[in-house]
Amino acid sequence: MLLSNGCERYKRDTYAALRRMRHSLAGSSLLPLTSTITGKRPTLLHTVVPGEIWTQDQQLGIVNVNVPIRSTIIKIPGGGLNVINPIQPTPESVSQLHSLEEVHGPVKNVILTSTAVEHRGSLGPFTQKFPKATCLYVKGQWTFPLPLGLRETGVVSRDITPLPTSGIIPSTGGLLIKTLGPLKFKSVGTYAEGAVYEGRTRTVVLTDSVASVTEEPPDIIMVDRRPLLYHARDDGSEVVDDTPSTWRKGWRRMTLFGLCFYPGKIKVKGFIKAVIDANNTPKEMRGLGSDAVPANLYPWSWLPGDESNFASFGDGKLFVPPILSKLIFDRDPEAVLAWAEDVAKWDFVRVIGAHYNNDVKAGPEEFLRAFDVLKGGEKGGRNRVMTEDLELLQKASDRLTKLGIVEESKVCDGEEARNIERLKL
Ligand SMILES: [Fe+2]
Repeated sequence: MLLSNGCERYKRDTYAALRRMRHSLAGSSLLPLTSTITGKRPTLLHTVVPGEIWTQDQQLGIVNVNVPIRSTIIKIPGGGLNVINPIQPTPESVSQLHSLEEVHGPVKNVILTSTAVEHRGSLGPFTQKFPKATCLYVKGQWTFPLPLGLRETGVVSRDITPLPTSGIIPSTGGLLIKTLGPLKFKSVGTYAEGAVYEGRTRTVVLTDSVASVTEEPPDIIMVDRRPLLYHARDDGSEVVDDTPSTWRKGWRRMTLFGLCFYPGKIKVKGFIKAVIDANNTPKEMRGLGSDAVPANLYPWSWLPGDESNFASFGDGKLFVPPILSKLIFDRDPEAVLAWAEDVAKWDFVRVIGAHYNNDVKAGPEEFLRAFDVLKGGEKGGRNRVMTEDLELLQKASDRLTKLGIVEESKVCDGEEARNIERLKL
């Protein structure tokens, strides 16, 4: 009876979660872009450099694994605003921008510096709120399964112009760009990323190529703490307190899931046991998954010691997220390293990425060091993510290579994650 009730609830909540994912797919992107736990999309406006640079953060997530997604707003000297990689234009986020417009002038340029779906997905809806702004985009945009132009994805700007590969971006008040790619995938799609430099504040704006993580959850993740509590449990039967140490523990694990997908310290349960255990979730902990995770499921438990796994990259220093170093950048490391070395010629003191930590105090040397992972040999061995956390990505990489879906990796890393026996792919 218990099992039957559990299955019913599992089915009901699964359908609810799938409906939300379908809505996201149809609306904007291949990723479910809502804040998974609340169904709302809160936006936090942050001043990075007073009177010059601001950011807006929303949440991007699936099954309670959330990360910040960020746009950067840069003032144009003489009046006006550049919005780089706009986020979803909710009434709250648009109102925040209108407040900036009242003081600094209108949004004049909407700049998309990435080909990643989670960034491109917001472009059309955003231009509909700011139709007079010029839309500038990095070359290499793609859609799947049908090849659609930007207008067909909802971009309504009168002027839609490709960004230069390098040099000054016209009419932005002197912003500079250096573009990586587009690197073409063997099957479908591209990776391109434009690094943008703002000289007065010595700031570089990036999207996905590097990230910085520390143990404190970002503010936008703290807006709804239930996903943090959800992940802070060692097992679904545990009751955790709503305290700062619990938030940090939840964030640590959420980050391991977000970056590695299959953390080395989880032990996955069989389906039947997971459903039975879900029915025995303590009353106080029910609902932590809301409709992001079906029926109170918590189908794994944590083995001790994930602090070390997080510590290998969670010191705030810039690193290349493993999905890029293992599946994309390692296919053309020469191009990526050449781009990184070119970006490092700029004299900057601050990096603003599109995910994880904001306003990272880092200069060219630290930025460049993050790409050592692509150099193979001893330097490349410094993965910054522990070997046991790389098992899924490494095996997926090998499998996709064997199937001819991706090119062969050109980084000779002697990756020991291949020898871990938890997963058969
Ligand atoms: Fe991204």
